[in-house]
Amino acid sequence: MENHIFLLMLLFLVQYYSVSISVSSSNETDQQAQVAFKDLVISPSQFLENNWTKNTSFCSWFGVTCSPKRQRVVALALPDMQLQGTISSSLANLSFLSVLNLENNSFHGGIPFGLGHLPRLQVVDVRNNQLQGSIPTILFQCRRVQVISLAFNKLGGEIWKGPWFVPKLRVLNLRNNSLTGIIPPSLGNATKLMNFSLAGNRISGNLPKEIGNLSPLATLSLYDNQLIGSIPAPLFNISSLLLANLAFNSLSGSHFLNEGNIVSNLEFLSVSNNQIPSNICQLRELQVLSISVNDITGEIPRNIGCLSKHEDFLIGDNPIKGTIPASLANISTLQYVSCTRNRLEVTSNHYRSSSSKP
Ligand SMILES: *[C@@H]1O[C@H](CO)[C@@H](O)[C@H](O)[C@H]1NC(C)=O
Ligand SMILES: *[C@@H]1O[C@H](CO)[C@@H](O)[C@H](O)[C@H]1NC(C)=O
Ligand SMILES: *[C@@H]1O[C@H](CO)[C@@H](O)[C@H](O)[C@H]1NC(C)=O
Ligand SMILES: *[C@@H]1O[C@H](CO)[C@@H](O)[C@H](O)[C@H]1NC(C)=O
Ligand SMILES: *[C@@H]1O[C@H](CO)[C@@H](O)[C@H](O)[C@H]1NC(C)=O
Ligand SMILES: *[C@@H]1O[C@H](CO)[C@@H](O)[C@H](O)[C@H]1NC(C)=O
Ligand SMILES: *[C@@H]1O[C@H](CO)[C@@H](O)[C@H](O)[C@H]1NC(C)=O
Ligand SMILES: *[C@@H]1O[C@H](CO)[C@@H](O)[C@H](O)[C@H]1NC(C)=O
Repeated sequence: MENHIFLLMLLFLVQYYSVSISVSSSNETDQQAQVAFKDLVISPSQFLENNWTKNTSFCSWFGVTCSPKRQRVVALALPDMQLQGTISSSLANLSFLSVLNLENNSFHGGIPFGLGHLPRLQVVDVRNNQLQGSIPTILFQCRRVQVISLAFNKLGGEIWKGPWFVPKLRVLNLRNNSLTGIIPPSLGNATKLMNFSLAGNRISGNLPKEIGNLSPLATLSLYDNQLIGSIPAPLFNISSLLLANLAFNSLSGSHFLNEGNIVSNLEFLSVSNNQIPSNICQLRELQVLSISVNDITGEIPRNIGCLSKHEDFLIGDNPIKGTIPASLANISTLQYVSCTRNRLEVTSNHYRSSSSKP
């Protein structure tokens, strides 16, 4: 009889224990992680504090999306909320998290390193905050990550030089931070990358030729950095490339296009403060060419009129000499020419050496 009771008790204990294990390793952890997150956040009129209360399921809290079956947090989206505070490292305990969007708030402090370990993470968007510290290197080794947007913060340190393993990455936006270091050749491993911006940082070194591996690349913004060396020719083999802004670096680009290349659909090219590519004519789809504020002394290619789809041609603030080629007048689509403050002479009656918009 006593044995019987003992067995029953044991059975009960085992069941109780396994139930409590399965709970704590499930949505209980998610709730704790979010409460810890909330505790470090200040929201206007305490909106978040009042909304995220324990008398409602955390799955119905503002900005929280749970998976329907398992009731696990899959998305935390609190953009444009004027939130202040730091981002709790407890978010790294949300093991089903796939989307984190804290865009356009006033978070300071660092990006929790543990986030990069979340196996389902697809989107990290914390752009437009005041985050400091360095980028968790593990983010560059996230198998499923598709969007990393950390732009407009105060992040520093070097870009991760080690091997990148981000086979699904489509958007990498690190614009307007204080990042240093180089663009590593292993960037070429990010073969799904479409939009890549490092503009407004302090990146140095060369633009690696592996950038030509990024076959879906549509926009490349690297302006306002300290890049040197030549613009790698493979970049212009990327047929999907629409925008390349390489302005305000120290790149040389005079022969970056290979002869006979069927080059890209590039519509916008800015090489201001770098060298004008001499065989620019191969960029047949080019609509905007910006070469303003150039250090260069080279001339505008004579045959510039080959750019039949040209709409804007911006060459203001240039110390460049020489003449504006008459062939510019052959560009029937040209709408805007800005050649202010430079030493160009005009050889054609079609254009005045100032802004003109027909
Ligand atoms: C929290 O916000 C959501 C979405 O606005 C709302 O549906 C819910 O009722 C709020 N809960 C509380 C407790 O305020
Ligand atoms: C939840 O609890 C808070 C106090 O913790 C209370 O102010 C609020 O009215 C409650 N909300 C609901 C929907 O019961
Ligand atoms: C955890 O999930 C179970 C169902 O799987 C649900 O009954 C319970 O309410 C959830 N807990 C919270 C805090 O939402
Ligand atoms: C950022 O948030 C502020 C206030 O919440 C809003 O006025 C502004 O439009 C937002 N900016 C962007 C770029 O979303
Ligand atoms: C993550 O969860 C574990 C286990 O529940 C807990 O011990 C730890 O403190 C949590 N980490 C953070 C940063 O909240
Ligand atoms: C980006 O950074 C530059 C300086 O590097 C600054 O002048 C500019 O205002 C910043 N833009 C925004 C939107 O913060
Ligand atoms: C990543 O790129 C580097 C350098 O280009 C290469 O050596 C390495 O094998 C690549 N790794 C993966 C996982 O593709
Ligand atoms: C990439 O940039 C292009 C052009 O600005 C934009 O239309 C597109 O939506 C962006 N793609 C993604 C995935 O954000």
